[in-house]
Amino acid sequence: MKVTTLEQLKAIKEQGLKLTYPEKLKIMVGMATCGISSGADKVYKALRQKIEELGLDAALEQTGCIGFCQKEPLVDVVYPGKVRLTYEAMTPEKAEALVTAINAGEFYPDNILCRIDQEDILMEGQTRPYANPHPPELPGEIPSYNEIPFFKKQVKIALKNCGFINPERIEEYIGRGGYTALHKVLTSMTSETVIAEVKASGLRGRGGAGFPTGLKWEFARNNPGEIKYVICNADEGDPGAFMDRGILEGDPHAVIEGMAIGAFAIGAREGYVYCRAEYPLAIHRLKIAISQAEELGLLGENIFGSDFSFKLKIREGAGAFVCGEETALIASIEGKVGEPKPRPPFPAQSGLWGKPTIINNVKTWSHIGPIVARGASWYGALGTPNAKGTTVFALVGKVNNTGLAEIPLGITLREMIFEIGGGIAGGREFKAVQTGGPSGGCIPAEYLDTPVDYESLGALGSIMGSGGMIVMDERDCMVNVAKYFIDFTKDESCGKCTPCREGTERLMEMLEAITDGKGQEGDLDKLVRMSELIKKTSLCGLGQTAPNPVLSTIKYFREEYEAHIRDGKCPAQVCKPLITFHVVEDLCNGCQLCRLLCPVEAIEGAKKVVHKVIQEKCIKCGTCFDKCKFGAIIVD
Ligand SMILES: Cc1cc2nc3c(=O)[nH]c(=O)nc-3n(C[C@H](O)[C@H](O)[C@H](O)COP(=O)(O)O)c2cc1C
Repeated sequence: MKVTTLEQLKAIKEQGLKLTYPEKLKIMVGMATCGISSGADKVYKALRQKIEELGLDAALEQTGCIGFCQKEPLVDVVYPGKVRLTYEAMTPEKAEALVTAINAGEFYPDNILCRIDQEDILMEGQTRPYANPHPPELPGEIPSYNEIPFFKKQVKIALKNCGFINPERIEEYIGRGGYTALHKVLTSMTSETVIAEVKASGLRGRGGAGFPTGLKWEFARNNPGEIKYVICNADEGDPGAFMDRGILEGDPHAVIEGMAIGAFAIGAREGYVYCRAEYPLAIHRLKIAISQAEELGLLGENIFGSDFSFKLKIREGAGAFVCGEETALIASIEGKVGEPKPRPPFPAQSGLWGKPTIINNVKTWSHIGPIVARGASWYGALGTPNAKGTTVFALVGKVNNTGLAEIPLGITLREMIFEIGGGIAGGREFKAVQTGGPSGGCIPAEYLDTPVDYESLGALGSIMGSGGMIVMDERDCMVNVAKYFIDFTKDESCGKCTPCREGTERLMEMLEAITDGKGQEGDLDKLVRMSELIKKTSLCGLGQTAPNPVLSTIKYFREEYEAHIRDGKCPAQVCKPLITFHVVEDLCNGCQLCRLLCPVEAIEGAKKVVHKVIQEKCIKCGTCFDKCKFGAIIVD
């Protein structure tokens, strides 16, 4: 059936709401890549088998990532009209016990993360189906979703459906208000009013550079031409970043709807999602979403009976970081080698096959529907004057809580790391936070009260980037961190321009020498000079930002570089050539554990006799240090 009227859309919405909130009990398993890699598929299978075995009248569904990836596998039990309970760290055995308990009319008390009383993340005007949060049977105090530090400060727009709907069912997306924005656009707006709304919202690109989205659309709209394109940049190449994958796996229609609105605004009839082939689940769900939208006539000819037609295709990238750069991405879609070109002309003037093209990030696209549906002023009220709305970070590294967090822009790094992230794991000291992936910088503790926005992070020598946020503790060596990122950009440099191709190689050689204990006086000045040269002269953003990790670590952690160069020491005890392992004679009782565990037989000593590390054989793997129960191994 093709949907052409609002009434038809509303009828599907009703169906969707019934699927999302059925009258019978429903069990949902977080089946995004993060969940599956923690064993969610096995949990799902165990749930299905037990439900069948016991004949329990319950719906079993898959959903996307609710964000708290660290707690995966996550299972939600939705008691119709009552409450929704989220269970964490589930196993197949616990899944079976859960079903058995439910079948016996009891609550399963283990592994409960939180209850969800009402879905504040629902779009305005929708029903709130968990209106009775305290069914009498609930045992003890179960924290509400909004009390969990990881969720408390989050405001979900891009992630609003992730973890709540089955992403493979268009009805459920429509059930939560999906495609009403596209209907509104096609029945009551012009391209000018759509662009005006997006401009007024203050939305800036979430892919890295933060260019105002509405303005970019206006350029493309004003450039003449019968044929124009919209592209979704789902290349997501930053190490540690998985925000865009999470959205595509959990709510692909949000991106499709945003792209259809963007296409209408600039006068395009065709669009592409450029997604790396390493994201097979995202591609799979996107394919399903596209074909379901086509079946309902929400993609294709004369959408909602209007004269607007829009076709969407997927192009799989081979996973080159440089192909996230927009001109390289365009070349890749065109079937050419993914290398950047000088700009201007910008894609809005001459993009895919020389036609005006807009490229936006997955998160940017997913904000468009809500902005149109709820209005620019609603969106603009979130965030700061220069950075409105929300963005999604992949919060990873040495924090207690890792996962996808959608925050209003302007909250501080401290709130992000110590409240949402729950502080540093193992009670260790915070050392630095790296934002913006390989193009970003490392920010030390003294700037923890900096607001998370484009300009504030930029002023510190980092960037907001696409949403990678890696937290480091006292055990991380900042020279080694800089080396890691330069190694990455060196490998990912396409080689087209000399400063990036040769410059990243030279930076790497110098950093390697320093971490090998072969650094020399004057190396830091050379590193800074070369970094600045590479930034100024490289062809594209890859080279222009690649030295940022080097410059920021020299700026904020210079003494650590100096310790490597002058004293031949790695204060964080990471750089292997600069550390040695020793046995403390007074503490060693000759238990032999280290000797037995050493993979290269570099420890000698008889039982109950003080052991010794044979330095010539030691590969500095740290096993003895980690495993000694008596603190008898030291590193210096
Ligand atoms: C080396 C490099 C890699 C990039 N990778 C991505 C990426 O994976 N995803 C993305 O959205 N933008 C990436 N960008 C930024 C894009 O070139 C472009 O600015 C962005 O897609 C525009 O969308 P936005 O305005 O919504 O941010 C990258 C830029 C460079 C220089």
